[in-house]
Amino acid sequence: MNKCFRTPTLYFTHLIPAVFLLIAFTNPAYAQANAVEALIEFRNPDGLVKSLKPTELNTLARQKTLKVFEVHEGRERQYKVYPAQAIFDLMFGSSWRTADEIIFTCQDGYQPSIPVAKFLTYDAYLAVASADNKPFTLSNALQNHEVVALEPAYLIWDNLKSPALLDEGASDMPYQIASIELASFAARFPEMLPPAGASTETRRGFLHFRKYCMACHTINGHGGGKAPELNYPVSVTEYLKPGYLKQWIDNPASLRYNTTMPALAAEIPEREEVIAEIIAYLTAMRDVKRMQPKP
Ligand code: HEC
Repeated sequence: MNKCFRTPTLYFTHLIPAVFLLIAFTNPAYAQANAVEALIEFRNPDGLVKSLKPTELNTLARQKTLKVFEVHEGRERQYKVYPAQAIFDLMFGSSWRTADEIIFTCQDGYQPSIPVAKFLTYDAYLAVASADNKPFTLSNALQNHEVVALEPAYLIWDNLKSPALLDEGASDMPYQIASIELASFAARFPEMLPPAGASTETRRGFLHFRKYCMACHTINGHGGGKAPELNYPVSVTEYLKPGYLKQWIDNPASLRYNTTMPALAAEIPEREEVIAEIIAYLTAMRDVKRMQPKP
């Protein structure tokens, strides 16, 4: 589902080789800069572990070709990939397996936080190229068919034999990954936690919000940097007429022409309840408006 406004990046990356060739031929001092390749940072709660170029992943694990159902395009596709578990083992040590979440930060601010448990249950891969030597891009059917660049890395799941994964939509498939960070959710995003004593419905809604919304949106300034803040200073549940928030989550394009917000994936089990619980969470957060001043 992810991510908007990425087309400029694509044009930009198309320009880079031309610009560097020009510089390399006209000024030898810059020739080395030609090697510029976006880095992927690995971080743990103590800070930066290592920065790697996508080509350096081959020092950590063996590359293979994987066929997946490309959720963004609604068809099967093949990518050149490295297994995520093997890479996490080497970057974070095996203790990542008992950690809480892995947070992916993308070049445009998309920032999904994915539970470690999901990486232990299903096989995830970091894709670094198309398998057919076609450009490493995709046409995002979930976002007005925008063509988006995927480099330096794109997180995909071995979903062809897993209906459960197919039901999840594209929320855990970040592309243009700039950093991969091991974290405790509560320590990293304290401002998003529901108020003390919150109802079961609200707490469930919080988990859904983490899964389906926070990659793009912030609550009290925390979360993804791609879409509007939803709680501070005025909650969406305060300024939207009752009924419209439900309709918006269900089908944003039915309210705003050409919107780039994707609808909540149609396949999600108990979707009506999920929407009601997300709204319960957003409503409860009215009582905990807090914004830390920017440092
Ligand atoms: C892929 C990114 C993305 C995801 C995921 C996403 N949104 Fe959005 N959302 C947007 C964008 C972009 C806008 C602004 C769209 C526009 O103005 O047309 C938006 C707008 C909104 C608005 C309207 C805010 C306003 O005042 O105009 C609400 C409410 C909202 N989103 C709630 C949610 C909820 C709840 C979820 C999870 C179920 C969610 N969004 C998931 C990108 C996203």
